[in-house]
Amino acid sequence: MAMGRRSGSSSSMALALLVLAASALSLLPASVAVTSPYVRPAPRAALSLLQDDDDDDQTPQQEYRGNLTTDNYVRKFQVHISMVGPDKMRVTWITDDDAPAIVDYGTTSGQYPFSVTGSTTTYSYVLYHSGKIHDAVIGPLQPSTTYFYRCSSNPSREFSFRTPPATLPFKFVIVGDFGQTGWTESTLKHIAAADYDMLLLPGDLSYADFIQTRWDSYGRLVEPLASARPWMMTEGNHEIEKLPLIERTPFKAYNARWRMPYDAGATPSGDNLYYSFDVAGGAVHVIMLGSYTDYGTGSAQYRWLQRDLAAIDRGRTAFVVALVHAPWYNSNDAHQGEGDAMRGAMEDLLYGARVDAVFAGHVHAYERFARVYGGKEDPCGPVYVTIGDGGNREGLAGKYIDPQPAISAFREASFGHGRLEVVNATHALWTWHRNDDDEPVVADQVWITSLASSPACNKNKNKM
Ligand SMILES: [Fe+2]
Repeated sequence: MAMGRRSGSSSSMALALLVLAASALSLLPASVAVTSPYVRPAPRAALSLLQDDDDDDQTPQQEYRGNLTTDNYVRKFQVHISMVGPDKMRVTWITDDDAPAIVDYGTTSGQYPFSVTGSTTTYSYVLYHSGKIHDAVIGPLQPSTTYFYRCSSNPSREFSFRTPPATLPFKFVIVGDFGQTGWTESTLKHIAAADYDMLLLPGDLSYADFIQTRWDSYGRLVEPLASARPWMMTEGNHEIEKLPLIERTPFKAYNARWRMPYDAGATPSGDNLYYSFDVAGGAVHVIMLGSYTDYGTGSAQYRWLQRDLAAIDRGRTAFVVALVHAPWYNSNDAHQGEGDAMRGAMEDLLYGARVDAVFAGHVHAYERFARVYGGKEDPCGPVYVTIGDGGNREGLAGKYIDPQPAISAFREASFGHGRLEVVNATHALWTWHRNDDDEPVVADQVWITSLASSPACNKNKNKM
């Protein structure tokens, strides 16, 4: 495969040289496994103000106190956006009272030539009743363009987002297990300072843990970022929230508040708990898997994954990445073995399709593995990364299996976030940014070469 789809430009030469030079760092062999000696600062407390849902004067959001006849229906916005297909965006927001599910938008601040009316839902959980959860899909939109928008035609608050590019390069932020503590705030601050196109979240969002108002405080906490870039996620165990006899439906709040595009794309899954989508004009395919719904052979998720992988054209799609909550490879003491059953069911599918990388959460630490298949280093297997270090209130998982397994390349129990920049059709740069006191510090990085560009790996694709 050619060095890159944009190799015709002069700037590509400099990029190519950079990639070649950096390839010396490419995928560290497991023989140089590192357990970081970094000593982290003391834990930080939960953000008590953000968890107090009823004290509106103390929310981080601007509160609407205007004269609209519909009263103060715009108090709680919790706006977030998610991609729907190549050129549309779902806007989701919440109001206390009835309000129109309208998004007005345009490319100039204060001018909204376009309007879309979506739909509204609510849910109840024990004694809690949610606000009105509105959802509207806007578009078609131009790539790499800033749009300004307002929700429920409320004139007091204008939001804006930038659409992702339609070609490479493409920049992801990847981080799981956010919660809403001082460390979450630190991680969000570092992410806000990054120039990125889309955030991918491998589960465990609010740590509401049955206290539904925490979903609202989490929605407000992440709104400044989640309203400005598409946030795409899959579920973790903290999203289940089942209560014996009282609340039998799992994922009630998660599915109502964080609807993902399971009904869009080339292979709709029909289930919010697993789905896939393309970015960068199909150069990158992202697969969101569900650790907490059936994944066994013959299950709906398994059969959907088979169809999804079979539909990928690796001549067009340079990189395929998957996200899952419970890690399939993990040398931390925490949650040891919890991803084994899913790995047993699905690892062959991902390996056969030459998936390039698998990102997981759940373990509150960072770990990067070599390319692995069947428990052993394999040049055609995915790079496995655990990135469950967003900053939640359960703290870090600092105890590791000793000695470090040969397939584990780097591990450290610190909060932080990851960035995956898919530079061109052959190379992607993965960096992990530790929350080092209050500074984001690059503590680990590696160049990942697309398996589609590897003649040895591509040759036997799907021939297992
Ligand atoms: Fe988890």
